[in-house]
Amino acid sequence: MNGDLETVFDVTLTVNGVEHSESVEARRHLADFLREDLGLTGTHIGCEHGVCGACTVRMEGEIVRACLTLTVQCDGKRIETIEGLSDSGEIADLQEAFRTRNALQCGYCTPGMLIAASALMAVEPMPSREEIRDHISGNYCRCTGYQAIVDAVETTLRARAEAAR
Ligand code: FES
Ligand code: FES
Repeated sequence: MNGDLETVFDVTLTVNGVEHSESVEARRHLADFLREDLGLTGTHIGCEHGVCGACTVRMEGEIVRACLTLTVQCDGKRIETIEGLSDSGEIADLQEAFRTRNALQCGYCTPGMLIAASALMAVEPMPSREEIRDHISGNYCRCTGYQAIVDAVETTLRARAEAAR
């Protein structure tokens, strides 16, 4: 407790609908907190510098980089991780499309990619392939070449549009 980055703060945040009250160091970022303190290892860490998007989560409904978000900044906030989205069934169709369109290989980027894509899909019922590509451009994938990911997002949106008719 020396007033620097090792200072500990009490924070209360809601993760996937469950409230957690913890004491955390000022410098502890959200990705480490989710993975190590809560065991939510679906939030991946790639670069830890805000570049790759592997750590993408939702905070108050907006996508954020968990490696750039300090846990103390999440006090009183609502966080959703890939585990929460998956359990809710909200992106079940998109997950299935990723499987059927071969939009994942090693899968390391996939949780962040799904969360990033779902944010676009929530506001754009039928974006162009270029818009999909542009939206996910902050999420790096070393395996797929992106075409199959765009295919999966496009396929899912088409199916949703059909179902809504
Ligand atoms: Fe957070 Fe790469 S680990 S953006
Ligand atoms: Fe391997 Fe995207 S599937 S990094």
